[in-house]
Amino acid sequence: MSDFFMNTYHRLPPVFSRGKGSWLTDIEGRSYLDFTSGIAVNCLGHGYAPLVTALSRQAEKLIHTSNYFQSDTARAFAERLVKACSGAGMQKVFLANSGAEANEGACKIARKYSLKKYGAGRHRIVTLKGSFHGRTISTLAATGQDKFHKDFGPFTEGFAYIPGGDRRALENALDNSVCGLLMEPIQGESGILPQSEEFVQAAAKLCAERDILLMFDEIQSGLGRTGTFLACEGYNVKPDLVTLAKGLAGGVPIGAVLAGEKAAGVFESGDHGSTFGGNALAAAAGLVVLETVDQKEFLAEIRRKGEGILSTLKSWNHPQILDIRGRGLMTGIDIDREAWPLLEAAIARADGKRNGLLMLSAGPKTLRLLPPYTISGAEIDEGLAILKECLDTAG
Ligand SMILES: Cc1ncc(COP(=O)(O)O)c(C=O)c1O
Repeated sequence: MSDFFMNTYHRLPPVFSRGKGSWLTDIEGRSYLDFTSGIAVNCLGHGYAPLVTALSRQAEKLIHTSNYFQSDTARAFAERLVKACSGAGMQKVFLANSGAEANEGACKIARKYSLKKYGAGRHRIVTLKGSFHGRTISTLAATGQDKFHKDFGPFTEGFAYIPGGDRRALENALDNSVCGLLMEPIQGESGILPQSEEFVQAAAKLCAERDILLMFDEIQSGLGRTGTFLACEGYNVKPDLVTLAKGLAGGVPIGAVLAGEKAAGVFESGDHGSTFGGNALAAAAGLVVLETVDQKEFLAEIRRKGEGILSTLKSWNHPQILDIRGRGLMTGIDIDREAWPLLEAAIARADGKRNGLLMLSAGPKTLRLLPPYTISGAEIDEGLAILKECLDTAG
C-alpha cells in the first residue's frame, strides 16, 4: 500500500493497472471480473472503444475552456442529456463534477425557489433515513445516517429525516418550513432498497400540492442502471429536479442537476458555477454514454441481464442468503454474515490461473453487484459461480 494517501479508505489488496470490458488486471497480472463498475461508474466497461476514441479525439481538439464560454461538444451533450430526461419533465441542466456537487446544486435551487416565492423561513429540506447524498458538509447533512454525522459538525442547518415508506411521517414533515424533498428512488449505499410505488406517488402528490420541490438523487440508480433511463420512470411520477453523476461520462468525472418547469429558471447569472463542470472532455465521454445507453433495446438488455442474475441467485436457495433485491443491474444480497470477508475471498481466489471477482458491500451484511451494462451472459455466469463458491466455502 502507498504511504502517500490519506487513510480514508479501507482498501482491498489489488493494485490495478489495466482494464478491458468487464475485466481488470492487477500489477501482478492477475485477472478479476468486475461486478462493481467502479461503483456504478464504468457503465460501458473498461476501455470501451467508442469512448476511448471520442476521448482521444476530443483531447486533440479541445479539453477545456471555462464556463465563461460554451464548447460545441458541451452544447451537444447538454441537449442530448435534457432530451434523455425529457420523459421525466426535465428542461434544463447544470453540469458539475460529482454527485455531491450535483446534490448541492439541487438544494440551492430548492432554497432559492422557495425564498423568492414565499420569503424567508421556508428553507428546510427533508430526506430519508438510510439515504446517502455525498461527503460535503451540506450533503453529509442531507444524508440520513447518523454514522456520517460524527466528528465533522456543525453541519449546514435545515435538514430533517423521515423513514422511507412512512406516509404519515411524510405528511407531517412536509410542512410550511420545507422547500424540498430529496430522495433516492432506490437507496444504493444502504443496501439496494427501493422505495415503494405508493410512497413515491404519495410524496409526488404532496410535494405538488404544497409547492415543495421533489428532488430525485439518481446518482446511483439513474443512467439505465435499473433498466429504464431514470429509475423514477418506473414510478410514474415527475420530479422537479434530478441529480446524476457516476456513470454519466463512463468514468470521467461529471455531475448534473436537471430541472423541470418549476425549477429550470431559478438559477440566474452568478448564482452557481464550476470551473471544470461539463468541460469538453467530460462532455465528449458523456455523449458516447448517452448515445449508447439511451436506446430502447440497450435498456431492455439491462433488464434481461438483471432478471437473469436474480433468477440464478434465487435458484440456489442458498442457506447463507437471506434476501435478494434488484432492478436491472443493481442487485443487493443480504447474507447471514459480514460481507467484507466474502469480498476478500472472491479477490484472494485470483492466483494467475483462476480469476477473482470484485463485488461491493452496501451495509455490513449486504453484497452489492453493479456490473457494467456491457457484461456478457458468460461473464455473469462466471462471476455468479465464483460468488457461489465463496459462499459455499465460507461454510
Ligand atoms: C445516491 C448517491 N448520491 C450521491 C453520491 C455522491 O456522489 P460523489 O461521490 O460523486 O460525490 C453517491 C455516491 O456514492 C450516491 O450513491
